[in-house]
Amino acid sequence: MITRAAPAKLNLTLEVLGRRPDGYHALRTIMQTISLADQLTVTSAANLTFTCDDPALGGPDNLVLRAATALRQAAAVTAGAHITLEKHIPTAAGLGGGSSDAAAALLALRELWALDWPRERLAALAAAIGSDVPFFLWGGTALAEGRGERITPLPPLGAFWFVLLPGDGTPPDKTRRIFAATTPADYGDGSATDRLRAQLERGSVDPAGFVNTLSGPAERTFGGLAAARAALLAAGARNVLLSGAGPTLFATTTNREEAEQLARTLRASGRPALVAAAAEAQ
Ligand code: C5P
Repeated sequence: MITRAAPAKLNLTLEVLGRRPDGYHALRTIMQTISLADQLTVTSAANLTFTCDDPALGGPDNLVLRAATALRQAAAVTAGAHITLEKHIPTAAGLGGGSSDAAAALLALRELWALDWPRERLAALAAAIGSDVPFFLWGGTALAEGRGERITPLPPLGAFWFVLLPGDGTPPDKTRRIFAATTPADYGDGSATDRLRAQLERGSVDPAGFVNTLSGPAERTFGGLAAARAALLAAGARNVLLSGAGPTLFATTTNREEAEQLARTLRASGRPALVAAAAEAQ
């Protein structure tokens, strides 16, 4: 039996650079795994089966089962596996939970089936499952380019804590809809990402430079974001940002106690805030 944590991510920067001929958008984003994580377990079995403690996610479309099926076929494996998933990451929230689960399945199955597959080969398969999946094969702090699938590991962010306000009620195709609502006026030039990369390389990060150019399209597409942002600011948060296509908003602090206090204030006003620390690559 092999168990792996499948961590959530935040986008510290996310800049949409433009629309590509294939319909995807060219991105420059710095992604960061955090301590909030699902747990994935694989055990030997004759067939490939999957169960999830959230019955709504246990169907055949789950990215975990798609990733497992693709790896089994590509590696010509005849054995199966039973995969179980314990969810803790809110779904369709901009936290990458489904993509992380798929990457954890690939890593766990590579071990269970004793495949001699380097991470780069797994990454090519992962990119066909979803643009965010390859990042989770590395985790920690990394630059993602292309449509999000080209990964360059970066020096660790270090001791940062995040207060997350997940938000809910967005449809499962919200990422596609928010990208579709992006216009050239929303595009960035990648310079915010380059600046953060330089700061990471010097070991001195200023969260005031975090950006997400999907914020405008996300606010135009779905309601509730402005009110959630106002609640965070009223509770004393600084550096409030949308993660990915949202709807999760997060505030960044360099102090755990400050993060806990902020989360307590938000919970007292009925907002389900979570605290998570920056995680390193494992
Ligand atoms: O790659 P993934 O399946 O996660 O992407 C979901 C949808 O989001 C895509 O079908 C596309 O419409 C949009 N997308 C995009 N540009 C990206 C990533 C995703 O337009 N870089």
